[in-house]
Amino acid sequence: MNITVIGTGYVGLVSGVCYAEIGNKVTCVDKDENKIKLLNRGGIPIYEPGLQELLMVNADAGKLTFTTDLESAVRSADLVIIAVGTPPLPSGEADLRYIEGAVREVASSIHGYTIVAVKSTVPVGTNDRVRQIIAEGTTQEFDVVSVPEFLREGSAVKDTLNPDRIVIGADNKRAADILVELHIPLTEEIVVTDIRSAEMIKYASNAFLATKISFINEIANICEKMGADVGEVAKGMGLDRRIGPAFLKAGIGYGGSCFPKDTKALIQIAGNVEYDFKLLKSVVEVNQTQRWGVIDKLYRALGSLSGRKIAIWGLAFKPGTDDVREAPAIEIIEKLIELGATPKVYDPVAMDNFRELMDHPSISWCLNEWDAVSGCDAVCLLTEWEEFCNIDLHKVEQLMARPVMVDGRNVFGAEQIKQTSIAYYPVGRPPINDKIEEIV
Ligand code: UGA
Repeated sequence: MNITVIGTGYVGLVSGVCYAEIGNKVTCVDKDENKIKLLNRGGIPIYEPGLQELLMVNADAGKLTFTTDLESAVRSADLVIIAVGTPPLPSGEADLRYIEGAVREVASSIHGYTIVAVKSTVPVGTNDRVRQIIAEGTTQEFDVVSVPEFLREGSAVKDTLNPDRIVIGADNKRAADILVELHIPLTEEIVVTDIRSAEMIKYASNAFLATKISFINEIANICEKMGADVGEVAKGMGLDRRIGPAFLKAGIGYGGSCFPKDTKALIQIAGNVEYDFKLLKSVVEVNQTQRWGVIDKLYRALGSLSGRKIAIWGLAFKPGTDDVREAPAIEIIEKLIELGATPKVYDPVAMDNFRELMDHPSISWCLNEWDAVSGCDAVCLLTEWEEFCNIDLHKVEQLMARPVMVDGRNVFGAEQIKQTSIAYYPVGRPPINDKIEEIV
């Protein structure tokens, strides 16, 4: 099948590469000339394991091309996939300007029967508007379908090639059958439904996962007060198949470009039809306050934070990505600066992106994890990169001015820590070597 993908962001680029990998001829279109030049040279504008290799193989095989010429790319396509961004407006609602702009251009370029599939996350009802815009711009035969995307950053290629399910929202059998055929090489779990339900499945899935995270984070906060261990609680809960073990890792809350945006958008979508989504509002609020646990624990361990050197391990919103959008590290570092501390920061891949976001003179940018902890009063682990999880804790202890660790991701076991003198503050588990009396 000839597929044209509009937008080479996370979703567009990964989908384009993967559709080529399963045997289609794919053209990826973007307005950004520099990005297209980079992609044509075999480079990729994002950090995503496995993506570059797959891109090169498929480009070399002639199955994958990149262009700024939307018109010719759409003209020759059987299927046009819209994967442009839907950033949040100040109200929380999704900004649909990019989608509408792209769809207008697509409408004037389609030639012969074409399916236009929307992969961008869009509020319920948007595909009706997409259909209307295309109908106004062409006399050619077309169908609009919704194919929401469920890939995760950091495992995007794996998720796309081995999805749990594919959701296809269509209002006629011809388009639905073509989309089913396209996705059969990926999975047999294909849900064909109406367009509005498909749009809602995407928001409901992200909102539910965010709810699991905020739920376990609240359980963790109660565990801390009661001397219980949230890791044990999550394990015990997760073995119940109705609950499942996934997304029950307590920590400093979710970040990224999806959960924060989509939860707020769904609250707004509900509000637009006069429904007060109370549960989801609490999920967002709990997530916002969860990061402050790191600051509370630093206070507990060190007293005043003024003049303290605090190492920050991890800036990305999660491991496996250089994405720092809505990362809890942002507000934690801002707070440390406000309290007069010096953050010494290190992330294996997200340093440049973070510096673009926050180039504050109080921040010390470190060369590696050791440089970050040297001479520090405490280290805060904010992203569970493997190199932090496998670190030599004795060496860490020796390099620090005070061996204090706030572990925002619960990566170390009690036995490991007990072999050191590190004062250790995890989330929802009892602290170890809590030196509060000695230090204050
Ligand atoms: C999320 C969804 O998982 C994807 O299915 C969806 O396609 C994507 O949003 C999207 O809408 O585009 P992503 O944002 O890449 O994917 O990241 P996740 O792996 O879901 O993690 C989100 C956040 O939750 C991270 O900050 C992570 O640290 C946090 N998290 C995750 C926890 O705090 N605890 C957990 O148990 C799991």
